[in-house]
Amino acid sequence: MPDIAALACALPKAELHLHIEGTLEPELAFELARRHGVTLPWRDVDALRAAYDFSDLQSFLDLYYAGADVLRTRDDFRDLTWAYLQRARADNVRHAEIFFDPQTHTARGVPMVEIIEGIHGALLRGERELGISFRLILSFLRHLPESDALATLEQARPFLDRIHGVGLDSSERGHPPSKFRQVFAQCRELGLPVVAHAGEEGPPSYIEEALDLLQARRIDHGVRAVESEVLLDRLAREQIPLTVCPLSNVRLKVYAGLEQHPLRDLLARGLKVTINSDDPAYFGGYVNANFVACVRALDLGADEVTRLARNSVEASWLDAGRRGALLDEIDAVAQDWRTAA
Ligand code: ADE
Ligand code: ZN
Repeated sequence: MPDIAALACALPKAELHLHIEGTLEPELAFELARRHGVTLPWRDVDALRAAYDFSDLQSFLDLYYAGADVLRTRDDFRDLTWAYLQRARADNVRHAEIFFDPQTHTARGVPMVEIIEGIHGALLRGERELGISFRLILSFLRHLPESDALATLEQARPFLDRIHGVGLDSSERGHPPSKFRQVFAQCRELGLPVVAHAGEEGPPSYIEEALDLLQARRIDHGVRAVESEVLLDRLAREQIPLTVCPLSNVRLKVYAGLEQHPLRDLLARGLKVTINSDDPAYFGGYVNANFVACVRALDLGADEVTRLARNSVEASWLDAGRRGALLDEIDAVAQDWRTAA
């Protein structure tokens, strides 16, 4: 039996839905706590890992924001980002479009410059030494008022040469995209492309708002689109990419098990679906772990995993040259695998 999981792991890919704060492994959290003389509310690494038992998105976010307290200086953000990039390289990620949540840090008094310089410095090193091209996406926290997002955009203005797009994340229910109309209009005027989390826990109408009111170019998660035939037809027709995060959806109880996940059906219906890891330190694995779990639970074939890898590059913001080169590499790896199988 040809090993589809091996093909999935070997394929070059882009990761398009990754919160850098969600890559904080317990070992690094304790190292940073020591660095700053902070006492974490967990006894040790094992006790922290044991706390990763979530009932929904909010229960995860409570812990995720608490953990982020150890991120204080540019060195912390650099170390965090570099650790992610090394793991991504091991998974054959060749391009990463990553989110950061500045409000989580500026609210604790961490200056914007520390956050951006730390992350961006590591991304440049990753491009040089690991061959991972990148885009950096500033994500606004939707549980906070729009005025807070507008103030954050002002704080980010001096760094816009290092920010390639904007997103919307955090607690979805009760915080529709329409709440952020103004700030995203300003972002678009600045030439920043927009993405938004929608349809993770929120209804299909939030996906429509993200597209129509915020002019989002990709939808992060988007899985609740399955509840609307009209929306599914639109997403397929307009080829709006969905950055799906299968292990996240199971850990946050969007689905009882991966077997119930609609990823394969969405793909079969012609939607531009991609696989991503969201907050891999908290959800049981990085992008290849997501691919392998889907191959096993959903019985994905070689064509499907190759399509998923191609979709990730096609849905990225890469320029035509590197995009074409990565697509050619994907096809070459898939061809070699077929020859060997
Ligand atoms: N922030 C980090 N991970 C998130 C997720 N899965 N949904 C919304 N906000 C997030
Ligand atoms: Zn996310």
